Amino acid sequence: MIKKGIILAGGHGTRMSPLTKAVNKQLLPIYDKPLIYYPLSILMLAGIKEVLIIVNKGQLNQFKKILNHGKRFGIKINYAEQQTPKGLPDAFILGERFIGKDNIALILGDNFFYGQSLTKKLKSCVKIKSGCKIVLHPVNKPELYGVAILNKKNKIISLNEKPKNSKSNLAVTGLYFFDNKVINYSKSLKPSKRNELEIIDLLNKYRREKKLSAEFLGRGGAWLDTGSIDDFYNTSAFVSSLENRQGLKIACLEEIALKYSWIGKKQIQEAINFYGKCIYSDYLKKLIK
Ligand code: DAU
Repeated sequence: MIKKGIILAGGHGTRMSPLTKAVNKQLLPIYDKPLIYYPLSILMLAGIKEVLIIVNKGQLNQFKKILNHGKRFGIKINYAEQQTPKGLPDAFILGERFIGKDNIALILGDNFFYGQSLTKKLKSCVKIKSGCKIVLHPVNKPELYGVAILNKKNKIISLNEKPKNSKSNLAVTGLYFFDNKVINYSKSLKPSKRNELEIIDLLNKYRREKKLSAEFLGRGGAWLDTGSIDDFYNTSAFVSSLENRQGLKIACLEEIALKYSWIGKKQIQEAINFYGKCIYSDYLKKLIK
């Protein structure tokens, strides 16, 4: 069972400039909460209570202000700083001590997942004992993502990063589950032409060893990547529509923790005091009424 997860929340953030000049992208709002709440909620829903958040150099305090060490959510949050964005597999090199001898989940800080049976799927993904599991979802513009080609038996036969003309519309989402070999595999990678360690090269190592499998979100699932300003507003609109229609919040971290009995009413009250008078606090009040 995978019990640890990494959120990669650094990066250049250049596509979102000037918004990201002073503030990390993952702290910008997706409707009523910072973006980082959404990937963190995914790890928590998977049952993961030990988290490492990798941030840009100098931005640690911004994250600590809002998440601190995770006590409010009944989890343990550790932090590491990435000096420069060296690529996604750098997470496993920076996170070597945190990972130790365990298996590990990775979620990109700008990825948003929502949908039916999501928790069930996540709980099945964390069961992997060896190899790597990735999550695939169809998209309209595969050229913006890592893309997988499957054979008739749903086996991954090829993986390419941002291919110009792909035969497949199945994107590799930013949620990955790895065995412990990921540390050594990451260390053995060479930087690509754009001078980054590439996640696709890492996944290809597992594929060649016949140790790569796929999970599918399915049509009832939504995967949104908040890479650009338009994506940010579209994702915000999605969250706003659903939350206002249903009266239920997406990625309310305290609600997930309460549901899993990681915290009790006392911590919810503390969270209300922490947030102060706001709609999010009103929602938390309803949870303990
Ligand atoms: O969103 C899914 C896609 O994510 C995958 O389909 C691609 O295969 C994968 O390469 C990645 O592509 P992106 O172009 O979206 O990656 P990006 O460089 O934008 O980084 C994604 C997140 O990770 C973002 O929140 C910044 C953070 N990051 C990125 C790098 C390269 C870091 O924290 N450190 C890094 O070194």
